[in-house]
Amino acid sequence: MCGIVGYIGYREAYPVVIKGLKRLEYRGYDSAGIALYDGEELRLSKTQGKVSDLENRALKEIPLGGTLGIGHTRWATHGEPNDVNSHPHYSNSGELVIIHNGIIENYESLKAELKKRGYTFTSDTDTEVLVNLIEDVKKSGGLKLGKAVQVALNQVHGAYAIAVFDKTKPNEVVVAKLGSPLAIGIGEDEFFVASDASPFIEYTNNAIYLEDEEMAILRRGKEIKVRKIKDDSLVAPYVQELQLNLEQIEKGGYEHFMLKEIYEQPQAIKDTYRGRLRADDGIIKMAGMEDHMEKFVHADRILIAACGTSWHAGLVAEYIFEDLTRTPVEVEYASEFRYRNPVITEKDVLIVISQSGETADTLAAIKLAREKGAFVFGVCNVVGSSIARESHAGAYTHAGPEIGVASTKAFTTQITVLTLMALKLAAAKGTISRTELQRYLTEMEAVPDKVEQCLQINEHVKYIASLYQEAPNCLYLGRGYNFPVALEGALKLKEISYIHAEGYPAAEMKHGPIALIDEQMPVVVIATRYGHYEKVVSNIQEIKSRKGKIIAVVMEGDTTVSEIADHVIEVPEITETLSPLITTIPLQLLSYHIAVMRGCNVDQPRNLAKSVTVE
Ligand code: F6R
Repeated sequence: MCGIVGYIGYREAYPVVIKGLKRLEYRGYDSAGIALYDGEELRLSKTQGKVSDLENRALKEIPLGGTLGIGHTRWATHGEPNDVNSHPHYSNSGELVIIHNGIIENYESLKAELKKRGYTFTSDTDTEVLVNLIEDVKKSGGLKLGKAVQVALNQVHGAYAIAVFDKTKPNEVVVAKLGSPLAIGIGEDEFFVASDASPFIEYTNNAIYLEDEEMAILRRGKEIKVRKIKDDSLVAPYVQELQLNLEQIEKGGYEHFMLKEIYEQPQAIKDTYRGRLRADDGIIKMAGMEDHMEKFVHADRILIAACGTSWHAGLVAEYIFEDLTRTPVEVEYASEFRYRNPVITEKDVLIVISQSGETADTLAAIKLAREKGAFVFGVCNVVGSSIARESHAGAYTHAGPEIGVASTKAFTTQITVLTLMALKLAAAKGTISRTELQRYLTEMEAVPDKVEQCLQINEHVKYIASLYQEAPNCLYLGRGYNFPVALEGALKLKEISYIHAEGYPAAEMKHGPIALIDEQMPVVVIATRYGHYEKVVSNIQEIKSRKGKIIAVVMEGDTTVSEIADHVIEVPEITETLSPLITTIPLQLLSYHIAVMRGCNVDQPRNLAKSVTVE
C-alpha cells in the first residue's frame, strides 16, 4: 500500500509528482505529502487527506519550484493518518528526506537503539526510524548516501520501496526495493520513480522494474547504477518498453473509474482471449501453459490461492476445472494457506490469481509452494508485477489498468483466463471432446456482446438501486457456478456502499440466514435456468413467504421467477460454465449506483487500498 513518486531532471518536479500521486491514489489515500528541492531550499508540505488537499495546502505553504521532488500518498500502517505521520519524513539533521511504501518490522528495536544514540522522533512511523537509521550509518561511517542506504537496509526486516535524497547532494536520489513495487522511468537527462509506471507514462516508455533487494542511484545527467543491497555488487538493469498509454489510465468521460471499468468489460474480455482463442480450429494458444503442459496434465491436484475478488474468481475456477478436467481443485485464501502448514507436494500445481500482482499474502503463498517443489502459475493483470515474476509461468489477463479500488474488469478477465486454461487442460487430458471444446470457444467469443447487452440495462438497475439505497443489510444467493458470483456481489456492495451484505449458496438459507428475512431485507438471487433452477425458485418462495424483497437475476424470457420476484433483471442466455461472466455485471452496476446514491466515494472507499502489499 502507499504510492510513491519521485522526479529528478530538468522539469519542474511539482506538477510531475502531484499528477503522479493522483494516479497512485488507488494505493492509499489517507494522507499525502511532497518534498521539493531547488538546490538551495528544501521545502516540504504534507497533510492528512487526499492529494487534492495536499495541493491546496502546498500552494499556500511553500514555493513550488525545484527540479527534484518526491511525493507520497499513504495507507496508514504505523501511526494513525495525520499530518505528522504523513510522508515525506526528515532525518534529525534535516538533511535527508525519505518516502516509503511498506513496513519495517523491526522498527521498534531500531528506534530504541537510535534513541540511545540521541535521535528523537516526531511521528509514530517506522519510516522516520528508517531515515534516521540511514543518517546514523552515514554520519558514523563517513559514508556517501548510496552506501549508507545499502548498509542501513541490511539491518532492516520487512518490506520497502523507498526514495531518499540528501540536501547536500542535490543531483542524486537513491531508491531501493524489497517486497513493495518500484518502477524507474528513464528519460533523457531525467529519472522518474514510482510504485507503478502510470505517473511517468506521458514522459517516457522506458522503464526498469527493480527486483527485490536491489537499489539504484539516480544521478542527474548520468547513467543509472543498479546494485544488490546484500553485497553492493553491480547489476545490469533490464530496460523494458512499456505498453501502457495515457488514455487507458484516465476516466474518459465517465464519472468514476469504477463505472468506466465496468463498461470496459466487453473490450477487456476480448483483449483477454484475443490471440489465444481460435474457435474454428478448436485451438487455445497459451504459451505459459504449453511450455509446462506435463505439469498440468499429471498434477495430482490444482491448488488456487488468492485474496478478495481474485479468490472469488478462484472459486469459479474450481467449478470449471473440476467439471471440465476432472482434476481435483482446492481454493485457499492466500492469507490462511501461508500460515496453516498445508500439504503441498511436487505433484501439485498452484495457480495464484492477483490483479495487482503485488498482494503480500499471495506472494507468500507462492514462496511456500515453491519451497515444497510445486509448480506455480500466476494469473495477473499488472505486467511485470512481483507475482508475475515470482511464478514459474503464467498468463496475463490484459484487462488494462484497473484504478477503481473495487475490482470489476479484473474479475471477469480472470475468469476468462481461467476458463481458457481449464479448456486447454481438458483438451490435453481428453476429458472433453473436440466438438465440445469448439462449442465452448464459440460461446466464449459471444461473451463480449452479451456483456454489452447487460450494460444496456443500466438504467433499470439504477432504478432498483434507488429503491434499496437505504437498506442496512442485503443478502446475495446463488448456486453452482453462481454461488461465487453471489459472494462477489455481496463484497462489491459492502466495500463501496458500506451496507452490510453477505453471500450464500441458496440452499444454505435454511441452515441459518433465513432467520434474517423480514420485509426490510433485500435478497439478490441469481436464478438462471440451469440444473438448480427449480430449487432456487423454491428458495425464492421461502423468502417471499417471510416478506423478504427479491431482486432476481434471470435469463431472458423467464416467466416463473418474474411472477414471484419484486424486481427482475434479465441477462442473455449463456452456457452455465460461462454464466458468471454475465450474471456478475448487473451486480456490479447495482453496487455502483447504490454507493453513488449514498454519496460514497466509489473509487476510493474508506479504509481500503487497491494494492495490499502488507499482510
Ligand atoms: C475487491 C478487491 C479486493 C482484491 C484483493 C486482492 O473489489 O479489489 O478484494 O481483489 O485485495 O487483490 P489482488 O487481486 O490485486 O491480489
